[in-house]
Parts: sequence; C-alpha cells; structure tokens
Amino acid sequence: MQTPWEYRYAHRMQKMGSSVIRELLKFTEQPDIISFAGGLPGPDVFPLKEFQAACNTVIEQQGAQALQYSTTEGYRPLREMISRHATRYMHVDVSPDNILITSGSQQALDFAGRLFINRGDYIVVESPSYLGALQAWNAYGAQYIAVRTDEFGMIVDELEAALRIGPKFIYVLPNFQNPSGVTLSLERRIKLIELADKYGVPIIEDDPYGQLRYEGEHIPSLVSLDSQFRGKNGGCYSGNVIYLSTFSKLLAPGLRLAWVIAPEQVIRKLVMTKQAADLHTASFNQYVAYEVGKGGFLDEHVKVIRSVYKERRDVMLEMMDEMFPPEVHWTRPQGGMFLWGVLPERMDAAEVLKVAIERKVAFVPGAAFHACGGGANTMRINFSYPTTEAIREGVTRLGLTLKEFLHEKISQN
Ligand SMILES: Cc1ncc(COP(=O)(O)O)c(C=O)c1O
Repeated sequence: MQTPWEYRYAHRMQKMGSSVIRELLKFTEQPDIISFAGGLPGPDVFPLKEFQAACNTVIEQQGAQALQYSTTEGYRPLREMISRHATRYMHVDVSPDNILITSGSQQALDFAGRLFINRGDYIVVESPSYLGALQAWNAYGAQYIAVRTDEFGMIVDELEAALRIGPKFIYVLPNFQNPSGVTLSLERRIKLIELADKYGVPIIEDDPYGQLRYEGEHIPSLVSLDSQFRGKNGGCYSGNVIYLSTFSKLLAPGLRLAWVIAPEQVIRKLVMTKQAADLHTASFNQYVAYEVGKGGFLDEHVKVIRSVYKERRDVMLEMMDEMFPPEVHWTRPQGGMFLWGVLPERMDAAEVLKVAIERKVAFVPGAAFHACGGGANTMRINFSYPTTEAIREGVTRLGLTLKEFLHEKISQN
C-alpha cells in the first residue's frame, strides 16, 4: 500500500529503490558470516597509534582551528601535500588550486553528477563498473553506454562507437577495478586519451586502488598521460581528465577524506557545488590526516598494506584453485581488493548467494555492476577484509556450494 509519503518524494527517488540484493547483503553483517561481500579495508591495517598521536598533536597545537569552520577547497597544507605527491610520483604538474578535498570520493562522484548530468544524458562506463557511481548518477537521470572489458580493462576499440553517441563523460577505473580487479593496459590508456581528445569528451578517472599494487609494473595514470599529451603548462594541470583518489584505502575510510585533481575552472565549479552540499570536508579530519601523513608515513604504511593484502589475495587464489569447480573462472588481480568470478551462463549468482548465506559465507552478485543489464552469472569477491583463516574457510564453503549448484543438487528454477 502506498503511504502519503510516496506522493511526496521527488522523481529522482524512483530509481533509488531497495533491491533484493541489498536486502540479502544485510545478512552479511551478522558476526558469524564470513563476508567477501563488502568493499572494506582490513581493520588490522588501520594505523591506530599514529592516529592517536596525531589527534593529540592537533588538539594541543591547532585545536581551535581544527574545530572551526574552514575553507571549501580544503586544508591548504593537505592540498600542498597531495600536489607534491602528484608532481613527484605521478609526474603531473598540479598546483594546490587544482585540488579539492571531498568527503570521500563518493561525494566527488555525486558532484560530477550535479555538475555534468542533465536527465537523459549519456555516460560511458565500463561493463562492469563501480556500483556507487551508477547509484550516484541514477539520481540525476543518467543513461549509460556500457563498453565491454576483458583482462586488460575497457576494450577501447569499442569506445569510438560509444563516443559518437555524444556522452557527457567517460568514467574509468584504470587500476585494479572495482568490481573486476582488472587493470587497463598502457596501450589502451594512450588510445583512450587520444579518442577522448578527438571527440572532446572528458574522462573521470577513479583511482582508489592505484597504490595497492602487489606485483608487476606501475602504469601511469590517465591524468599524467593526458598531461604529457598536452605538454607543460606552468605547474598547473588544465587537461581533459578529472582524477579522483581517496584516503579511504590508504589510511581509513571512516575519515571520509578524498581528493579531486582537475583543471582550475572545474575545481571552481566543484567548490560551488560543495559549498551548497556541506560547506567543507571535516576540518579536524583534514588536520589529523595531514599530521599523520606529513613526515612521509604514508609511503611506509602503504608497504604494510600491500604485504597484508598480497598474502590475502594469494591465499584466496590458492584456495579457489583448489576448491572451485573448473566450470567457474576468475580474474587474478595484480593489486586492489577484489576479484571477479564468472559462473557458467545458466547459473544465477543471486541464487547461489541465498544458499551461501545459509552456509555463512557471502559475496556480491555481479548483475548490479552492469549499467545496461546482464552479468547475472558473475560475482565480486573481496579479499582485503577477511583474515587468511577466514578466507580458507569461506572459499571452502563457497566452493562446495558452487559444486552443488553445478551438479544440480540444489534445484535451479
Ligand atoms: C571505485 C571506487 N570509487 C569510489 C569509492 C568511494 O570511496 P570513498 O570511501 O573515498 O568515498 C570506492 C569505495 O569503495 C570505490 O571502490
């Protein structure tokens, strides 16, 4: 029955209903479930000691400023630190005026929607793509052109046809993609930059996982390749890419602290958007993150994260090789937090999840990551959150469930 409230919600809420999957995933919060479902960092890598010391220092030395309202752009020393990092390690000329601090990258995705999307506008996304972005842009009435991916990321040869439709922007996750774990090859990155330039379509590069590489060579980001493509511009980036990254996976997601690198004129528009949304990102969190990071701690800390997650990934792959039936295939990501399973076409991962939950193990069925439908036989599996013991036990349970499904011991309707 419709309540009076149903008539009051704005049209944009129509596409934001609860899904069966979301309801199922609530079960994954039960303490006895082994969850490969969330996108959570391992809580054991949070640098608690450093945070405690930094909080004390901030309160003692800058308490009043840190607890005061602040500028919308973000705490200047933090933006300077990010700009130094971008210039030194990413080889892109970035000034602090190219940087906006946001309350998580999720907020930046929402702002991209507010800034660019009119109802009915097309956005090019990878298939599959990050669910949080699709959710943010659904609210603005986006339509999607989904470009297929393989083990080298977006199949850029199929992009040109998509660009002829006239999309507002291209959304790409080049490193250890959420959900699939794949990485866009250098050759495809270059082609992507060239095509985007040819058709005058901006790129949003979402890169929360770029630093979490466990093997293989680092591949330059799209923002740095785009900046090379355009040549020097006096220490200030003014190209075609909006780059997003976050402290969620390097420090802690509870900080809600991320950054956007974009041409100054785009930053100015984003600043207006942010003023209307929340005035500024929490000052205290920005001061604390700067205090934690300023002496080069992040470079050391990221090595710890890499070694913990690498071990978890290795154990997961080893266990999947042993326990999963040969009809199931999966990616072998060189970094990040996820891998991606593909079941035989006739199988529905959402049905598998129902039984898996009874066996106290969970993952996310992949259909929701496909902006234009399909993918019912796919699944996202997280390896950063569970311990290696939980991974061994969880993959064993999941492997048995999959085998039973495949051998039709569980009826499939
Ligand atoms: C690809 C991608 N973009 C954005 C986000 C949101 O990150 P944040 O915690 O900075 O809001 C995530 C979080 O998992 C993500 O995987």
